[in-house]
Amino acid sequence: MVRVGVVGCGYWGSKHVRVLHATEGVDAVVMIDPVEDRLRSLARSYPADLRFGSVGEALEHVDALVVATPPTTHVAVALEAIRAGRHVLVEKPLATTVADADRLDRAAADAGVTLMVGHTFEYNPAVWKLRDLVRGGELGEVYYLDSARLNLGLYQRDVNVIYDLAPHDVSIVNYVLGVAPVAVQAWASHHAHHQFEDVAYLRLFYADRDLSANIHVSWLDPAKVRRVVAVGSAKMAVYDDIAEERIRVLDKGITLPSEDDSRTQPPMSYRYGDIVAPFVAPDEPLGVQDRHFVECVATGAVPLTDGASGLAVVAVLEAAQISLDRGRPVRIEEAMAEGPARVAA
Ligand SMILES: NC(=O)c1ccc[n+]([C@@H]2O[C@H](COP(=O)([O-])OP(=O)(O)OC[C@H]3O[C@@H](n4cnc5c(N)ncnc54)[C@H](O)[C@@H]3O)[C@@H](O)[C@H]2O)c1
Repeated sequence: MVRVGVVGCGYWGSKHVRVLHATEGVDAVVMIDPVEDRLRSLARSYPADLRFGSVGEALEHVDALVVATPPTTHVAVALEAIRAGRHVLVEKPLATTVADADRLDRAAADAGVTLMVGHTFEYNPAVWKLRDLVRGGELGEVYYLDSARLNLGLYQRDVNVIYDLAPHDVSIVNYVLGVAPVAVQAWASHHAHHQFEDVAYLRLFYADRDLSANIHVSWLDPAKVRRVVAVGSAKMAVYDDIAEERIRVLDKGITLPSEDDSRTQPPMSYRYGDIVAPFVAPDEPLGVQDRHFVECVATGAVPLTDGASGLAVVAVLEAAQISLDRGRPVRIEEAMAEGPARVAA
């Protein structure tokens, strides 16, 4: 049995508190937040839980911690826990720099504790289905993925929209494609926020030049959109996380003329076929994720979304940030190499 503390009991941390209460193998849930009001309102639902204002006070009561504080505080909070020998699940993004993500990964390895990152969509049955479609070849040769995560809000205080929302999309495309990008180009602007970009577009390039991924994230859009489209040579698939049919496979595409016909035929013909909505299990991704964390802590298994997976996502975010600053595509290895120097600067 594992005693789990949730550090940061705000919007997302309170969901972890709820889910952990229903997670097998969890002995106790401990709530940690310096804002007394947050703890008091959660205590109405969970009066038996221990409550503390800081990680230090809670340490002797927990075996593992979920870090659900704002992104720029993840490293300090997680390092305190790791150095005290506690297992940690850090919310996305693992850190805001490659250097810090690497520091966390090394610290966890040195301490012999589990480090997992909250890439929640990798525990989403609809994303598993999309991965199966892409990797199983049903879509044919995959041309590109296109991801959109738009809404009006929730503006963050410490990071721009790329660091807030794009971790989801980057982790989804990494997971679905099974390969990491080699370079990123980003475009972004700030409108309603005086400091942080609230609208951004990322283009991810791969070693296979015929493959690409596009990501659009926004806090300033009239419609709530949570959609990933995969376009292949044989079929297309749409994963819409807020639709009733979360995955639809469209037998649609373009047929190129044969060499012989190319002089006499129109350049291409369009194929319209069936639209199929496969069954997707209704499991709550956060529940699946937290259960996996508790199992990894109990068994010592390496999490599906471990420190390396968190670092791979942060590398894309940092490359995107450098691309914004320099107005050109940036290779991931450039971001990895520059990381420590950028932090020092
Ligand atoms: N995986 C997901 O789908 C998902 C969804 C939303 C948010 N998140 C992540 O969850 C984290 C929290 O986001 P949020 O929207 O809940 O923010 P929030 O502002 O609502 O809550 C953050 C809480 O952390 C507390 N806090 C700050 N510093 C602390 C510290 N040093 N020790 C203890 N508590 C501290 C604050 O008092 C606050 O209650 C972020 O990293 C965010 O990216 C993940």
